Amino acid sequence: MSFQNLQDALYWLGLAVAIYFLVRVFINLAAAVLTYGLLPKANVAKYGKWSVVTGASDGIGKEFAIQLAERGQNIVLISRTLAKLQSVAQDIESTYGVKTKVLSTDFGRGDCIYDEIAQLIAGLDIGTLVNNVGTGPPIARFTEMPDPSQAIRNTVEVNIISVLKMTQLILPEMVKKQRGLIINVSSGGCVAPLPSLAVYGATKSFVDYFSRCISHEYEVEGIKAVCIMPYFVSSNLTLNAKPNFWLRSAKDYVRNVLAVTTTSTRWSHGCWQHDVHGWMGRNLPHKVYATSIGLVLQRIKNKQM
Ligand SMILES: NC(=O)c1ccc[n+]([C@@H]2O[C@H](COP(=O)([O-])OP(=O)(O)OC[C@H]3O[C@@H](n4cnc5c(N)ncnc54)[C@H](OP(=O)(O)O)[C@@H]3O)[C@@H](O)[C@H]2O)c1
Repeated sequence: MSFQNLQDALYWLGLAVAIYFLVRVFINLAAAVLTYGLLPKANVAKYGKWSVVTGASDGIGKEFAIQLAERGQNIVLISRTLAKLQSVAQDIESTYGVKTKVLSTDFGRGDCIYDEIAQLIAGLDIGTLVNNVGTGPPIARFTEMPDPSQAIRNTVEVNIISVLKMTQLILPEMVKKQRGLIINVSSGGCVAPLPSLAVYGATKSFVDYFSRCISHEYEVEGIKAVCIMPYFVSSNLTLNAKPNFWLRSAKDYVRNVLAVTTTSTRWSHGCWQHDVHGWMGRNLPHKVYATSIGLVLQRIKNKQM
């Protein structure tokens, strides 16, 4: 091959690669504009009549319960505080005319709670499972966590074991019916290392990995599993900070997430502002990214004290 031919071949190869990436960017942008611009209403009724939401009495989980009920779903709400659960359930029943079941339990207690959950949901036509409940130790370096043994056990039970056990309880029936939607709430925090939130971030990485595997394993059986990785959403976890451009309200955030579930994606940050945040996490030099997140966490930590 002459030098000129080699130059020509490299020119065409370079052009093809550039076009490939431009087309991909265009498709991704078009998908984002269609999803976040039009906010298509997820047709959750096609998966079944009931939705189960963990951590449903507050924050993001409460919004999932409300917005799924708005779409005609009967809701099973699970978290610790009975009074809050009953209040959300009553609001949902009176506003949307759907049925609810509540269970006050602590996912931090381990295996012993799942028999009661199994009894509660037995025989229900569950189409949607939202594995939302999550917690974490106070913001601190690994060796400086207060009461580390308890903090580690509790975070693993709530963030990891609950996702595995709830999926184990509900997925087999979904497989039998060849339909189901599972929304696993992870965190944008696990996109890149998060100093001072090592245990929390690591458990959320687990949720992300597990969710993607399940999504591939059961796709052929009509099951859709989507991992959602929020950055900052106004809730107790973020000390109910006032929503702004980056920090979304739970209502706005969940509306976007439900629109995302109508697409073919297996994971998402849940809204375009958090997608931009996620892009920075994956592409900025880690020191720059970690420093900027560190500043936000420091502000939250100062408020916690
Ligand atoms: N908000 C954010 O900026 C953000 C960012 C990234 C990821 N996330 C993730 O999003 C999910 C929801 O967070 P959120 O911000 O909505 O938190 P939140 O406002 O603190 O709400 C947590 C919900 O879970 C329940 N809960 C907490 N610990 C529980 C336990 N041990 N057993 C049973 N229920 C429990 C709480 O009710 P009770 O207290 O009554 O039990 C409440 O209903 C979590 O998985 C979190 O990691 C949130």
